[in-house]
Amino acid sequence: MVDVLVIGSGGAGLSAALAAKEAGASVLVVGKMYPTNSQTSMAQGGMNAALGNVEEDHVSLHIADTIKSAHGLCDEDMVRQMCADAPKTIEWLETLGMPFSRLERENDSTRYPLPATRSIAQRQMGGASAKRACYAQDYTGLKLLHTLYDTCLKEGVDFLDEHFLLNLIVPDDTVKGATFLDIRSGEVKQVDAKSVVIATGGYGSIYHGFTTNMYGATGDGIAAVLRAGGAVSDMEFVQFHPTALKHSCILVSESARGEGGYLVNEAGERFVDELKPRDEVARAIFMQMKEGQRVFLDVRHLGEAKLMELLPQEVELCKIHEHVDPAKELIPIKPVAHYSMGGIDVDGALEVNGIKGCFAAGECSNAKVHGANRLGGNSLLEITAFGRFAGENAFKHAVYASSKPADDAQRSKDEAAIKALFAQESGESFYTYREKLGELFYEKVGIVRENNQLNEALEEVIAMQVAQKQMGIGDKSRNNNQNLIELLEFKNALLLAPAIISAAIARDESRGAHFKVGFEEESDAFKKHIVLQWKKETA
Ligand code: FUM
Repeated sequence: MVDVLVIGSGGAGLSAALAAKEAGASVLVVGKMYPTNSQTSMAQGGMNAALGNVEEDHVSLHIADTIKSAHGLCDEDMVRQMCADAPKTIEWLETLGMPFSRLERENDSTRYPLPATRSIAQRQMGGASAKRACYAQDYTGLKLLHTLYDTCLKEGVDFLDEHFLLNLIVPDDTVKGATFLDIRSGEVKQVDAKSVVIATGGYGSIYHGFTTNMYGATGDGIAAVLRAGGAVSDMEFVQFHPTALKHSCILVSESARGEGGYLVNEAGERFVDELKPRDEVARAIFMQMKEGQRVFLDVRHLGEAKLMELLPQEVELCKIHEHVDPAKELIPIKPVAHYSMGGIDVDGALEVNGIKGCFAAGECSNAKVHGANRLGGNSLLEITAFGRFAGENAFKHAVYASSKPADDAQRSKDEAAIKALFAQESGESFYTYREKLGELFYEKVGIVRENNQLNEALEEVIAMQVAQKQMGIGDKSRNNNQNLIELLEFKNALLLAPAIISAAIARDESRGAHFKVGFEEESDAFKKHIVLQWKKETA
């Protein structure tokens, strides 16, 4: 039995693992892919911390910006904790060797010697009152991930890669471990643990084909929490990133606008302050597109040298996926789903409401720091600062937790369910439904919502849930069966879909990323979280 089982090997999971390990726990990280492939690697722009390296800044301003952007739906104590932790989180990463971009200060002899973090470059992100995002060119998430993973390997954290989470083991409201499908062998395994940290990422890929997220961002951990009796909240709040490449939906970082890029329509007119929070910018683009305008990001005036120094990844992505050279041409863009503000409902210690000993961190968790709209640069901060916090708290729980393992009832049940999937006819293709679900969500649960469309979407999703019971897998191999994994992911997405839509139907107002026609203002009656939990079956 392991002290702390971390499920998910992105930035939040690795940060949690390191904190628990430092505290003295035995730690096992289980992920469905290799850590370096996780969604964190796609985060580009930066990580907020009020260091004030470029211009005057203060933690209080970071707190104020975050609260303003959350539109009344955050827990201000949690925001204070995250923002106050930010400078020391950057300092910690600096000690691990995170390759932050640096300010050029060779001639500034009066300012040396400086503490190392004082030389970290910082850039502007939307909704921020100062240049606050620390970055590593436009590879910030990727570099963060490599830094954390290298450190985990050095510190002796154990890993089980390519294991798909099936279910949490929760007898009597306390977590005792989890079951996994070993993707390579096809075996169903049980991992016993004294405490668990879930760090499995968000549910952006429900918007399949209309998201910056990888296919696997299907909210697997959130779905497992719901099945195990835990609570989820704020599921209706999905952030649309204003600038994804028009044809591939690949992210073009907000830092392109932070460094001075413009948004223009076909007439070459700017139509919005590009550095407003993402909800407002995404809606402004949506309105342009509704009027039949194509919308572009224009960074030509920044010049090739600056682009190559600050945004080299963006330049490559535009060339490869959109066949445009940003130094010379306009970049066609559209807003797509990017980030789930909602997720597993946790308390101030990041413990899952409804499941003792189970903690959640990162995009899968709703620690109530982002509210109705997250600020760019706060997600890499949250996964690191709160990943560590979750790891520390999981360790504290493990110290007093029982070391008696659970029986293997859940594993046997899951093994039987997998066996049944192999036995089932493949039936209708779930891949077609995965696409339909993405289109449905983008059309009817998107940037601008209407109650009649939301109700139609709910009906369609329920019909899909019924149809899904007849869907199986065509590939019957036991080993490395991607077809099976994608079906399990689709099932999770479909399980979460009604939660998102129902919460959106219930919220008859507009707030942050949730904008509803006919209810365009914020309403005090809805200044609250919508929390969902499955009713336990009574015998
Ligand atoms: O635009 C971006 O670089 C994304 C940053 C974020 O989601 O925080």
